[in-house]
This record gives sequence, C-alpha cells and structure tokens, in this order.
Amino acid sequence: EVVVVVVVVVVLVVVVVVLEEILLLEILLLPKVIPLNPKSTVFVAKVEGVSLAEPLASETVEALFHALDTFAVLVFPNQALTDEQHIRFSRYFGDLELATGDYMKQDDRRLQMELNDISNLDRAGGKMEAADPKRLFSLGNMLWHSDSSFKAIPAQYSILSAKIIPATEGDTEFADMRAAWNALDEKTQQKCLGQVTRHSQLYSRGELGFTEFREDQQEAMIPVQQALVRRHPRTKNISLYLSAHAGMIEGWTVPESRIFLKRLTEHATQREFTFQNKWSVNDLVIWDNQATMHRAMGYDNKEVRDMRRTTIAGVTSVSYTHLTLPTSDLV
Ligand code: OGA
Ligand code: MN
Repeated sequence: EVVVVVVVVVVLVVVVVVLEEILLLEILLLPKVIPLNPKSTVFVAKVEGVSLAEPLASETVEALFHALDTFAVLVFPNQALTDEQHIRFSRYFGDLELATGDYMKQDDRRLQMELNDISNLDRAGGKMEAADPKRLFSLGNMLWHSDSSFKAIPAQYSILSAKIIPATEGDTEFADMRAAWNALDEKTQQKCLGQVTRHSQLYSRGELGFTEFREDQQEAMIPVQQALVRRHPRTKNISLYLSAHAGMIEGWTVPESRIFLKRLTEHATQREFTFQNKWSVNDLVIWDNQATMHRAMGYDNKEVRDMRRTTIAGVTSVSYTHLTLPTSDLV
C-alpha cells in the first residue's frame, strides 16, 4: 500500500513539473514587450523576441493584440521582410485595405495594391521631382491624421515597414487620443459627445493649398461621416477621433467647425501626449488608428525614403455617436 502511495505521489510530482516546464517555455517563447515612452507607461512599446517573417502561433498573435490594446503603438526592430511576408503578417490582424486613397493612378504604382507607398520614389524606382504632384500630395502626411478616416470604413491598424531611411530627419510622431480625451475638461467633453464630423482628402489637401485633382479623384473625395468621439471596439476605451481629413461638424457652420477641430487637435497633440519615433532600417511599426493620430516630420528630398504600409480595415465610427457622460459606465 505504501508503495502505491509513493508511486502516485511521484507520478503527480512529475506531471506538475512537466506542466510547469511547458508553461515556462510558452512564456519564454512569447514576444517581449518593453515600454518605450518616458512620458507614458501605456503608450508606445518595443517588441522583441519574435520573427515576423515566419508564420506566427495563435498565442503570439494574441499577445500582440493584447500589447496593441495597451500601448496602441508597437515598434519591432530588425524585421527585414519581403512585401509578401509583410502582407502575410498583416493578415493576422484582419482584412487588408487596398491603397485606393493614393494620388497615383493604379498603372503608375510602384507597389501592389495591398501596400501604401510611403516613399519619394516613382514607379521605376527613381526619386520624384520636388514639384511632382504625387510628392506634393504626400506632404499631407505631415498633418496630424488617422489613416483612412476619409473612408466610410476607416483604418484600424497601420503596419509600416522602413526599407530605406534618410541619414537624418524623417521621424514620425504619434499622439495618444485616449489620453487626449481623458484630459479634456467635462464641458468640452459634453460639447464633443454625439457630434458627427465629415472627413475627406479634399479638406486635408485643401489645408495645404493642394487642389489639383482629376475628376475621378474628386468623385472619390465625397466626405464621409465619422464620430468625433469613439469607443474602441476591443478595449472599450474612449478616444477623441480627429484627423486632418476632418473639415466639418454636422449642423455647425464651417468656421465654427474648423476652429473647434483645430483647438481639439492642438489640445490632443501637446507634448505630453506625443511620442517621436526615430526610424532604423527594417523597423516595423504597428499603430492603432482608433486610439492615435500620427504625422510625418519631413525630410530632405535629396535623400531617398522608402517605407511601405499595409492597412487593416476597421469598423464604422458613427455607431458611437450615442455616447454620453460618464462614458466609463457605457458598454
Ligand atoms: C503613414 C504615414 C508617416 C511617415 O504611413 O500612414 O502617415 O512618417 N506615415 O511617413
Ligand atoms: Mn498616415
């Protein structure tokens, strides 16, 4: 009888040890998420210990979703990816948008439609002239924006890979729109709730005085509706939803709309809410457009900058226009 008890105990101990080993191994295999922003513990992290060129385990994908929910911007150093690997990795996060918002005609494109061309290169790989309308159009990226907010279904995540970067400059800034919402005074929050904005690339480019659009482009620039305040479908966090593409608040006059949107943008992009990312070659950055804005910082057009972006389609924001204070109580 004693022998039986001893055997059972030994078997149990072995089982527990083996299970612990497996658990430990899994934890060790998960990507390492390291906060990167001295100004916030919940905005921008670096991710190491995962190769995005390889197919990912579902546990790894879950860990990345979780990190995105917390940090909204993830920087992955040293991820040399082919376009196909970039696209395969992106599909773990949802359906891809096609680059229909580009200024370029489809035949003039350097990259396939799944990739947004964030470069100063033309189809043949040569550098664009400074006055090339395609380049001037792309200067719109230097205004604070959320990707594809000019589409009825705007972007959820953007995944940008740095292939060639200038020797200096060319950084990208990000702003935490959850923190921006939380820091608004209650009167302004009340004024924002329920408002519907209209977004179009006509507004963002118009701000730069860029108005050269072909007829087919103008048709694609009919303004779409977005909520000014939105709830994140995964985290349920509330964010201000601003973008350079926003030009109108429904039911408001144009000047009143514009000045209010400008004030909110000034508030949301104060230093305390922003992070400036300095790129290295083969960095890949994912950001959540539902909780952030970003802008390009600009660089000398004598230099080549080749960045490629996939975009994960999101959900309509307009379903959040019923939000009322206190927003924390809402489902
Ligand atoms: C983008 C974008 C900023 C940059 O890829 O959507 O706005 O710095 N990029 O190129
Ligand atoms: Mn962008």
